[in-house]
Amino acid sequence: MPSKLVQPVSDELTSTATSGVKALDLGAMFGRHAPLEVDLGSGHGTFLLEMAAKFPERNFIGTEKYGRRVRKTIRCAEDRGLSNARMLKVENAFAVRLLFPPESVEVFHVAFPDPWPKRRHWPRRLINRDFLDTVHRALRADGELRVQTDHAGYGEWIEEIVSKRADFTRLDWLDDPDYPRTDFERRFHGQEFYRARLRKV
Ligand SMILES: C[S@@+](CC[C@H](N)C(=O)[O-])C[C@H]1O[C@@H](n2cnc3c(N)ncnc32)[C@H](O)[C@@H]1O
Repeated sequence: MPSKLVQPVSDELTSTATSGVKALDLGAMFGRHAPLEVDLGSGHGTFLLEMAAKFPERNFIGTEKYGRRVRKTIRCAEDRGLSNARMLKVENAFAVRLLFPPESVEVFHVAFPDPWPKRRHWPRRLINRDFLDTVHRALRADGELRVQTDHAGYGEWIEEIVSKRADFTRLDWLDDPDYPRTDFERRFHGQEFYRARLRKV
């Protein structure tokens, strides 16, 4: 039975072809208009679903490349009766560039993206200048990008890119003990993370 929580995105969309791709119709997808938060690389969906439960007046979309994690998240959302969460099986950078209409997203979350520690793999890192350009375009005025990584080298890499930009300003990290944590955040509890909360100027 097709679930209303399933928002399939064809694997074709993960190809490099960029023409003819339609942005999401967010109103139709959720059946309402509400502030949207997007969790890029949502893993098993723990954070996404806790956020959806805590903020029912907001809409949430998770993006994830592994179908099994997408399906698990959808199952859990259904079990918990969360009607404000959707999943896309899609590549992160592609989704930000092409699927979210301009000025449609209130918050992008990027929690513990793959660090690609080897120098020759650095071009694969999600966060780069182009990515920030596309995030900026998709964010609403005053929208935010929240990034966390446990990998010091990736943190330095992000910091260097961000420090050159005047189109984001920095905010203090959220200091709320009840704010949902991602699986990786819990796993690395007690360690120092690189964290950046960047508001669109
Ligand atoms: C290290 S895990 C972090 C998961 C979660 N954000 C957390 O903090 O617990 C990274 C997740 O991003 C997904 N991922 C990695 N590269 C991706 C890409 N290019 N597009 C979509 N998902 C991706 C992985 O499959 C994995 O589930």
